[in-house]
Amino acid sequence: MATASLSLNHHRYLVQIRGGVSLNSRIRVPTRFSSNGFTSRIRATSAVVAEPELRTPAQDSMEAELFACPICYEPLTRKGPSGFNVPAIYRSGFKCRKCNKSYSSKDIYLDLTVTSGTKQYNEVKPARSELFRSPIVSFLYERGWRQNFNLSGFPGPDEEFKMAQEYFKVAEGGVLVDVSCGSGLFSRKFAKSGAYSRVVALDFSENMLRQCYDFIKNDESIIGSNLALVRADVSRLPFPSGSIDAVHAGAALHCWPSPSNAIAEINRILRSGGVFVGTTFLRVNPSAPTIFRALEQSALRTYSYFTQEEIEDLVTSCGLINYTSKVQSSFIMFSAQKQ
Ligand SMILES: C[S@@+](CC[C@H](N)C(=O)[O-])C[C@H]1O[C@@H](n2cnc3c(N)ncnc32)[C@H](O)[C@@H]1O
Repeated sequence: MATASLSLNHHRYLVQIRGGVSLNSRIRVPTRFSSNGFTSRIRATSAVVAEPELRTPAQDSMEAELFACPICYEPLTRKGPSGFNVPAIYRSGFKCRKCNKSYSSKDIYLDLTVTSGTKQYNEVKPARSELFRSPIVSFLYERGWRQNFNLSGFPGPDEEFKMAQEYFKVAEGGVLVDVSCGSGLFSRKFAKSGAYSRVVALDFSENMLRQCYDFIKNDESIIGSNLALVRADVSRLPFPSGSIDAVHAGAALHCWPSPSNAIAEINRILRSGGVFVGTTFLRVNPSAPTIFRALEQSALRTYSYFTQEEIEDLVTSCGLINYTSKVQSSFIMFSAQKQ
């Protein structure tokens, strides 16, 4: 077993590396509060054990957080090391000021779903959401699955990122939430761009978030940067109203259980003038060749695709303004702003 010392944002970690990442790799994370503060240990068959050195109580902070309780929407208080980065958030405990519910990190992401902490209850979402919770789909997502979107007119991650950044110019320096980030394809680009004070990579899929961690864990420019990994449901976003400058949702609208609840939530968390940028697949035009319509019919059983008019209607009926869109074949990028 190789052992390396790693310094991240003022905190030192002992990282022990065992070889091999397997598809089914499961990360077990026993965490505990001690009288000296919060001590934690990450165990992963995919290989990382991070042992933070003991901290003094002065290094802990009780501070109002960006995150809110998904039940009350009250800002959470945080106990743990300060700093907005994966290791600091992992080592912190969060609590709702109103209902007292506690939230902590599970594996490597902070679980801010309503069901966080349940022991017996298990909620199953529609197939279009559940599909991406699978470890195999999460593993394959950036290893071929996403590239296939090009066949439907998606310009590809680099170009889509550039296009989104144009819309987000007015949000520079603010907080960006990459909703339904998947394995973090765009979250990594937003974090690396340095254009935002904080970037939240948020998804409902535990395995997508694990993949996201696998992609960033060896990249010091990201792991210690202003990026957080959060599990949450887009229909119940864990942020106070009016607190977010930019929301990005790449290739996600068609996967959401309720697009209207999701966009209403996005409107709620955006500050006045804040920007929402989304991409999705358009429903195929009735005049398209039969083969495309047949393929769409089978995909429609899993996903929900909309026409350009339906998307504009949905976004504006949720109260967002200044709607614009760019279309290429079945790809649409749309943007709108909070009033
Ligand atoms: C096709 S992937 C998009 C990933 C990435 N944003 C991209 O542009 O490639 C759709 C993502 O939506 C997520 N998703 C589905 N239902 C969700 C929900 N209720 N809340 C949050 N994310 C959800 C899935 O887990 C999946 O990672």
